[in-house]
Amino acid sequence: KLLFRFPLVTVRGTPLMCHIADNFEKIWAFNPHPSDLLIATYPKAGTTWTQEIVDLLLHNGDSEACKRAPTPVRSPFLEIFSPKPIPSGLDLLEKMDPPRMIKTHLPFHLVPLGFWENKCKTIYVARNAKDNMVSYFHFDRMNQTQPEPGPWECYVNKFMQGELGWGSWYDHVKGYWVEKEERNILYLFYEEMKENPRREVERIMRYLDLSLSDDVISRIVELTSFKSMKENPMSNYSCVPAPVFDHTISPFMRKGEVGDWRNYFSPEQSKMFDEDYKEKMKDVDIPFRDSI
Ligand code: PPS
Repeated sequence: KLLFRFPLVTVRGTPLMCHIADNFEKIWAFNPHPSDLLIATYPKAGTTWTQEIVDLLLHNGDSEACKRAPTPVRSPFLEIFSPKPIPSGLDLLEKMDPPRMIKTHLPFHLVPLGFWENKCKTIYVARNAKDNMVSYFHFDRMNQTQPEPGPWECYVNKFMQGELGWGSWYDHVKGYWVEKEERNILYLFYEEMKENPRREVERIMRYLDLSLSDDVISRIVELTSFKSMKENPMSNYSCVPAPVFDHTISPFMRKGEVGDWRNYFSPEQSKMFDEDYKEKMKDVDIPFRDSI
């Protein structure tokens, strides 16, 4: 079982699971169509939620249409080559006609240049560091292909050092933030989506140049609530069963809350983390909330 967990290999400064690193040249050569949409996140920042919102917006709120396949089939994961049962992202993309809804966790500098050359629309979702880390910790426990998370105390250090899969959270959120105007990236926050989901759904709708009725928007907000998505087999990742995702260890749709970090960080850990955070983030002013 332990052998199943892929080691990390550093690619251009970023630790990636070895099956991604081994195939990186193929990923880097991917050439999207200008109509393709990229949904980029650090792992566990709200990717699946955003994928569901976008799919419903593109289908005028038609919930049946959006149940045509599970999330990773409707919206392929660009760099993933494993695990089964979902085929690799590139294989899925090859068989789909644009416009495609493409997921990536790659940091900005590893995103294939074709996305920028073709001026593809890009939605980036950022989540406050501490909640993001808690969610990633539980995901690393349940996803038997990710490296072992180890004990929480060590995990905090690995996160701070940028040693987890897809690298440094700090560099990730900054990398897209500094490029957002130049590349026309819609930069969203998980906390703002929780605070006022309707406002954020409408923001995505405008970015996609869509104009849907108030009723349809209300339906999309309802269909993309944490509860609806947890119950929906096409969005709750029951499509990836054990032994790959062991949902009995921690469900993919775990809590969906802001501030859960308070249940994990000791006061000392939090202080140490905040001091390091201020130093690492001092060169940018990204309006994160609920992390202190
Ligand atoms: S992944 O594996 O990187 O694609 O995971 P990702 O989808 O980015 O993040 C999973 C976390 O997002 C929560 N989630 C939601 N929160 C609120 N509302 C909705 N609809 C929703 N859908 C998913 C999910 O529960 C994970 O967060 P945690 O804190 O672990 O619950």
